[in-house]
Amino acid sequence: MDLPQESLGVGLKPGDAHYRAYVGPPEDYDLIAAMTFNLLTTLGLRQHHSLLDVGCGSLRIGRLLIPYLNRGKYFGVEPNEWLVKEGIKQELGEALLQIKRPTFFFSDLPETITQAKVSFDFALAQSILVTAELDLIQNWLSAISHSLGEDGALVATFLPGEEDSPTKGWVYPECVNYKPATMRQAAAEAGLRFEILDWKHPRQTWALLAAPKFDSGWLKNRPLTWNAGLERVLAKTKSAMSPRRCQRLPIFRTRKATSTIRTDCGRFTIMNSWTIQLFEKLMRAAFTRQATIIDGTGGFTSVCGPAFVLLDSTAISLSAV
Ligand SMILES: C[S@@+](CC[C@H](N)C(=O)[O-])C[C@H]1O[C@@H](n2cnc3c(N)ncnc32)[C@H](O)[C@@H]1O
Repeated sequence: MDLPQESLGVGLKPGDAHYRAYVGPPEDYDLIAAMTFNLLTTLGLRQHHSLLDVGCGSLRIGRLLIPYLNRGKYFGVEPNEWLVKEGIKQELGEALLQIKRPTFFFSDLPETITQAKVSFDFALAQSILVTAELDLIQNWLSAISHSLGEDGALVATFLPGEEDSPTKGWVYPECVNYKPATMRQAAAEAGLRFEILDWKHPRQTWALLAAPKFDSGWLKNRPLTWNAGLERVLAKTKSAMSPRRCQRLPIFRTRKATSTIRTDCGRFTIMNSWTIQLFEKLMRAAFTRQATIIDGTGGFTSVCGPAFVLLDSTAISLSAV
């Protein structure tokens, strides 16, 4: 059943005291979430990444990011605690909070995130840099840059203008404009590479503020689309899985139960056929939980039931006598 229109804040103005209206036009609440989630995943956000959502508000985007990311990987910073509480109550739910354990910092101080000593793969500032004076923006960029991994990136919106707005402080729900050159300079001062992204927003402009090793080369010569992003992920996975150039191994024979050989490719244990059979039996037993495999050599571990000590090998050669 749909929520009644008044619960969705429809008809209210941006900045009104309603969890949806406070963060922007309530009619766009879904659209902004979809646009941002799609952008982040197209740029490479994966479940194991950690993400900082600056000015996370009522979890408009957090309600998609928190379920997507692995437990403990979402961090939100927000001065208005009531917004986060309403977002949890109306959008996310307590159960997901318990399952995914996001972290929230209720603060408007950029230092809060540096003090947290967390390294982020991605940071997000959706509709944040558009309401602050340049000094505040610089403080946030410097704190975010400090907390980003060297291949991390901040994805942020801004409002390009011919001139820089002479704003002081935080002017929300008013908006401020900055020249792209000013934003580029502010990013550079924080050690971030500034690139405008071709990703539509109903009112603002998306930009990437990347740490030195964030790979954005693939965006240069092709449109920023899901297809391009996925192709890049698949190409990376393929190259990671292709066999490394490796010394060709001769077939080793042994009469001993096991012996170890060293090659350029690593250290191998070779077994005679009887040992292989025993090994296979033990592996089966381990998989059916009738035995425990203990990694390494020489140590003793107390186990219940039969145990098998794996030799100090990095791989098992199945060549037999
Ligand atoms: C336009 S809303 C955007 C919220 C959220 N990013 C989104 O897109 O749904 C701006 C948010 O910034 C928060 N905010 C206000 N002052 C701030 C400050 N000094 N630093 C960071 N965030 C602040 C507001 O409480 C509000 O949640």
